[in-house]
Amino acid sequence: MKGLILSGGKGTRLYPITFNRAKQLVPVANKPVLFRVIEAIKEAGIDEIGIVIGDTGAEIREAVGNGKRWDVKITYIPQEAPLGLAHAVKISQEFLGDDRFVMFLGDNVIQGGISSLIRQFASSDWNSQVVLTAVDQPQHYGVAELDNEGRIKQLVEKPRNPVSNLALVGIYMFDPNVFRAVNAIKPSWRGELEITDAIQWLVENGYAVHPYIHRGWWIDTGKPIDMLEANNRVLAELAHHVEGYVDRDSKVDHLVTVERGAEIINSVIRGPAIIGEDARIINSYVGPFTSIFHHTVVEESEIEHSIVLDHSRIVGIPSRIEDSIIGRDVEITYSPIKPKAYKMTLGDHSKVGLL
Ligand code: DAU
Repeated sequence: MKGLILSGGKGTRLYPITFNRAKQLVPVANKPVLFRVIEAIKEAGIDEIGIVIGDTGAEIREAVGNGKRWDVKITYIPQEAPLGLAHAVKISQEFLGDDRFVMFLGDNVIQGGISSLIRQFASSDWNSQVVLTAVDQPQHYGVAELDNEGRIKQLVEKPRNPVSNLALVGIYMFDPNVFRAVNAIKPSWRGELEITDAIQWLVENGYAVHPYIHRGWWIDTGKPIDMLEANNRVLAELAHHVEGYVDRDSKVDHLVTVERGAEIINSVIRGPAIIGEDARIINSYVGPFTSIFHHTVVEESEIEHSIVLDHSRIVGIPSRIEDSIIGRDVEITYSPIKPKAYKMTLGDHSKVGLL
């Protein structure tokens, strides 16, 4: 089997974090979501992976390289515009050939990996397997209706009035018959070739599409709140370890990871949390569900339930920072210089909540 990861698209809902960077490279528990996807595919025994890339392709190529780090072979497949998930399959035909394959959306995080799913599909004669899970707001996803025997009756992309609460998770398995489907369907109202329509075509034309119901957690990291939720989930399940330096005056509990080269000085870190390589936490408090990425400094400040990207500085902030996503190379400092005022240099699409 082969793997196909979709990493095109624009990520507008994560602006400004993704204004000039690929949303699939935003780290969750200090590891880009895309790296987690590659690891899940490799763990399932697949080592030939195609990555569909768009406008942010150069950055993805630079971060992932040829895949040697994971012992996989990566082929990049440029997509001229985000014309839909089924369009991405269409342009990947040459790479996929006659192989069965798993398609994984590069911004999805799922509990428990996909090894058992892949095993099940590889040894079956199904033409496709889709992963479904119960969600609270099905109107934001592709939605499946099953019949009394648990077979797929109908699939609809982001329906206004969903007929069930079963959403399509961003993991799909296909055999080469999917190319008949993607060539037969027409663009949807939003101008995209929808994978949901392609799977519906397979069902209507008598191909065997098996629905697998996923019971653990799954997060599509489309919006900032989802990013924080994914960070919480992954941090809670991480096997924590301390490699960096923790001084005697600091308190770091057993649910904290301190990566290589990081320094914790006179601070309290309450897990689950992760402090990245060469980060420095000085006279500060880092609370649960916080990820501080590499080379970031937190000094004389308190932060909790947040993600801070690399090379940022948070210094001398008098109130606790919470529920925040802070980009790379950001500086947040306290200035005693009069007049007493908020002084900001914020990029386009920034969001700040002040007291
Ligand atoms: O996350 C699950 C949902 O993903 C499913 O329930 C929906 O049925 C499915 O259509 C999809 O919906 P989204 O609206 O969330 O898809 P999004 O546009 O966010 O794209 C998902 C990933 O695929 C993202 O990493 C970008 C990439 N992509 C997207 C498009 C439209 C491409 O590589 N090429 C594309 O043309």
